[in-house]
Amino acid sequence: MRIKGKIESVLRRCPPLFRLGSRIYHGLNPGFKSLSPGAPGAVQKAFALAKEMHQGDCIGDYYEFGLYKGYTFYIAYQAARKLGLKKTRFYGFDSFQGLPQVEDVDKTGGRFFEGQFACSRKQVEKQLRAHGVDLDRVKLIQGFYEQTLDQQLKEDLPAGRAGVVLLDCDLYSSTSTALHWLQGLIADKTVVIFDDWYSFTEGEELGQQRALKEFASQNPHLAFEPVTEFERNGKMFVARKKDLP
Ligand SMILES: C[S@@+](CC[C@H](N)C(=O)[O-])C[C@H]1O[C@@H](n2cnc3c(N)ncnc32)[C@H](O)[C@@H]1O
Repeated sequence: MRIKGKIESVLRRCPPLFRLGSRIYHGLNPGFKSLSPGAPGAVQKAFALAKEMHQGDCIGDYYEFGLYKGYTFYIAYQAARKLGLKKTRFYGFDSFQGLPQVEDVDKTGGRFFEGQFACSRKQVEKQLRAHGVDLDRVKLIQGFYEQTLDQQLKEDLPAGRAGVVLLDCDLYSSTSTALHWLQGLIADKTVVIFDDWYSFTEGEELGQQRALKEFASQNPHLAFEPVTEFERNGKMFVARKKDLP
């Protein structure tokens, strides 16, 4: 285990200290980078894979759930540009107030707390602009998923078929709400990245593994083929349409 991980697991035994330590660490860390070392590379790989599978410039739209400072969103925008994917639209979903209230199974292990990873929309937009992202080409949807993700939003965006999805929102509840909303948008050849696949080491009945298991059982026409795993806790899949009898 790395030093940061060791310190984290010691601090987690005292939740107020853990929350304080996390706020100080992220507050003192002004850099523009991802919280996950492997996520930017995974996003680039996902776009390359989507382009290869679709053999053209029409892979579908990009959906990111959980932006924090916006680094992976910026990487997605850059990756699509480099591949000439001019038709892809970029949708980013975040409260810009950090995690919602952590309840039920998401409390397991004490890793997550309300307000964790908060970064204001203003700050995210400033970083994206400073790194060359044309904000007219992207759409940020502000608010907690439980309140924002509804049918009306799908029509308003407008939400098209998903080419690449990044689920980087830590919790079972957030991932499950996002996946539920993505029903009908995740289709054959959609690349789905779970940045927190192994965030709950206590078992697969937790976190993102539980959310995908439920989503897959509600969508029996889709199979999720594993593509790769990446640092620190991530796993990438491709959705495939099953030939049902
Ligand atoms: C780990 S951070 C995202 C990290 C980012 N993708 C990166 O690579 O640096 C998790 C983000 O998910 C957002 N989030 C989690 N659950 C949410 C929910 N239910 N509604 C809105 N935002 C949520 C938090 O606000 C936070 O910005």
